Amino acid sequence: MDVSSKPKVLINRKLPEAIISYLNEHCECTVWDGEGLLPRPQLLEMIKDYEGLFVNNEQINAELLERAPKLRVVSSSSVGYNHFHIEDMKARGVIGTHTPYVLDDTVADLVFSLILSSARRVAELDAQVKQGNWKRGARKEDEWFGMDVHHATIGIIGMGRIGEAIAKRAVHGFDMNLVYNNRSRKPEAEERYGAQFRSLEDVLKESDFVVLMTPLTPETEHYIRKEHFEMMKPTAFFINASRGQTVDEQAMIEALQNGTIRGAGLDVFDQEPVSPDNPLLKLSNVVTLPHIGSATTKTRYDMAMLAAQNLVGALTGDKAYVVQELKELVK
Ligand code: DGY
Repeated sequence: MDVSSKPKVLINRKLPEAIISYLNEHCECTVWDGEGLLPRPQLLEMIKDYEGLFVNNEQINAELLERAPKLRVVSSSSVGYNHFHIEDMKARGVIGTHTPYVLDDTVADLVFSLILSSARRVAELDAQVKQGNWKRGARKEDEWFGMDVHHATIGIIGMGRIGEAIAKRAVHGFDMNLVYNNRSRKPEAEERYGAQFRSLEDVLKESDFVVLMTPLTPETEHYIRKEHFEMMKPTAFFINASRGQTVDEQAMIEALQNGTIRGAGLDVFDQEPVSPDNPLLKLSNVVTLPHIGSATTKTRYDMAMLAAQNLVGALTGDKAYVVQELKELVK
């Protein structure tokens, strides 16, 4: 391709050399080479010249789009795309792409680490050992006991690809009983993992581990609220690796403080990074992580490469994972 006919694209962070050289074959790239992510004010200033934008977790809204007359494609290096303001993008005819499939197993592994850490109190007891509190006869025998994961009931809310990867681990690895709720039934998951479809309420009532994996959309904002925590068993654990806003965080804090539920494992928060003053950080029955569901070296590389391929594909009319709500923009 002749250099002058290559589309101009803006990359909001440093990427591995191989990904940049792939992009350079097809595009004229400007890569932010400062620390971290290209700051929003600079992005808003620069975006007017570009047809393509590579991001993750950057609000793609009217504020940005009105400064971007040439923009045709935004490629997000993430599976979730709640940062795409769909109506604004539709109005401007800007395609959005994301990175499904490549992170499913990695996120499912992380969900299991939250299940195991919260039930067996791994982080809490690690701190006890390191603080020198492991002393013979110093406490009641059951003080550090946890809950079994194997043969317990897991309830998955949102049985998408990641939900199914969690189901596989739960049933084949830990002999768990599996119930789920999803917008539509999943016959393959029922067949493969013996997953039993339930109403949301019944998933909450029956499960020892409630795992929330539903994507954040206007319909799922604060999907789990006070009344839902009240339906859960007092011995149950709540695991969230979707988005913080799918839960009423204040209601969850109260449920954890007053013993409505036993504990939680959280990779996501209403505000990220989480404020140091958030009461969740003071609770010993809560395991917290800094939104690292997909954060392994290989998976983040694969996501960035797929996002680069999506950017090129969508700009050139070739294959790309365009998000469902914007597929109508693809000719
Ligand atoms: C995703 O890809 O949506 C993960 O949450 C990482 O952002």
